[in-house]
Amino acid sequence: MVLPALALVAGCAKPITFDAGAIAANRMLAGAPPGFLLGAATSAYQIEGGNHNDWSEWEKGRYPDGTPHVLDGTSATRAADSWNFWRADLSALQLLGANVYRLGIEWSRLEPTEGAWDQAAAARYRQMFAALRAAGITPIVTLYHFTLPTWVAARGGWDWDGAPAALAAFAGRAGSAFGDLVDWWCTINEPNVLVAKGYLAGQWPPGARDPHRAAMALAALMRAHGLMTGALRENDRTDADGDGRATRIGIAQNLRIFDPYSASPVDGIVAGAADDFYNQAFLDAVTLGRVRVVLPGVIDIDQPFPPLAGSLDYLGVNYYTRDLVVGHLGGPNIYTPASAPDRPRNDLGWEIYPEGLYRMLLRYAHRGWPLLVTENGVADGRGVLRSDFLRAHLYAVDRARAEGVEVIGYLYWSLIDNFEWSHGYRGHFGLYAIDFEDPTLTRRPTAAVATFQEAARNLGTLH
Ligand code: BGC
Repeated sequence: MVLPALALVAGCAKPITFDAGAIAANRMLAGAPPGFLLGAATSAYQIEGGNHNDWSEWEKGRYPDGTPHVLDGTSATRAADSWNFWRADLSALQLLGANVYRLGIEWSRLEPTEGAWDQAAAARYRQMFAALRAAGITPIVTLYHFTLPTWVAARGGWDWDGAPAALAAFAGRAGSAFGDLVDWWCTINEPNVLVAKGYLAGQWPPGARDPHRAAMALAALMRAHGLMTGALRENDRTDADGDGRATRIGIAQNLRIFDPYSASPVDGIVAGAADDFYNQAFLDAVTLGRVRVVLPGVIDIDQPFPPLAGSLDYLGVNYYTRDLVVGHLGGPNIYTPASAPDRPRNDLGWEIYPEGLYRMLLRYAHRGWPLLVTENGVADGRGVLRSDFLRAHLYAVDRARAEGVEVIGYLYWSLIDNFEWSHGYRGHFGLYAIDFEDPTLTRRPTAAVATFQEAARNLGTLH
């Protein structure tokens, strides 16, 4: 582990404040090159409906005090029913002027029991990918976005030492089944969030609060990503878009700014340690070709794992917010997040901090991977924050690009309102709103659609 205080100084550059006039004056994406990827993202479980996996089981449960695991007591049984309404999602993308769509395939749907392969489900995914391509929209396919088939969960999920190989076998199979239609793959979505929520906070399956298990799970996810990359490169040899490369493989890493709340050394050290475990550990593993997870006093894993080296063709950046860290030296939580004065917050209470995207893009520039913003969005059920949010975050992208950072694309999260994990249907991130009480689940454009279209026009993907 890098010394926490050093990581803070080297990695997180000083807080800055954007000038509102500069954001308003910026012609979003006007300077981006023609091949720039502009679109939106979703995940399979959050939109498809009809899935049965560790999450659908978790949704039925309650905490010992009686609170349901999903705060509003809902489930993803139907979600946005994109399994049936996928053509409506495609129309929504076309209206935006998107040239790329990041969507997931659901492992439990394709491989409901070990070694099985649901041909009908695979055929439906092929239909979606082919329709996207026909519309000039490149699919970026996520293979693992938080949900495990029940047969994997029954063996212990990420505690099972066979889990990395099982996910890699699935990746290989997906590579052969869809490789002629798909070049862009995202192996794992946010290994750090999965570990934080499922193994530290106990809010997602398997509901653990155990730093040792968390560290072991993170190590298993590192191995899985390395093996998945090998399996994809071996099984997807078809260059679908004719650019000379059959695969472009990345992960989507949640990057969160941890700024110390005060000048107190405790805030600084704790912010650095949080940054190190959350933002940095997985990327160090990939850079060094080593499974390396160090939590002082808890675990020290450091083993060579050659499949990790060179396993990223791009780094997917999922950026949402910053935490102002009030550090604690004892007690169950290492820090409590403080509120930044004068900063708007989204419906889930997260600070809106576009400068953080710029800081992260600068921080991860020149590491050998082009950067693709694979998620960035705001929970805004009233539709009053999203346009400004989008404009400010595209300004962050433009400014980083102007300073020489290789940012190859920007995907807004999410295309449509969806099932927001333990918040149920309370987090409205969609560019298109959905009333989940309405049986038609109509996708209704929010005000931010016009802002997105303005960027697409500047880029030249919408006329
Ligand atoms: C996840 C999404 C989630 C979004 C908003 C990201 O961390 O990848 O699944 O919906 O954040 O919370």
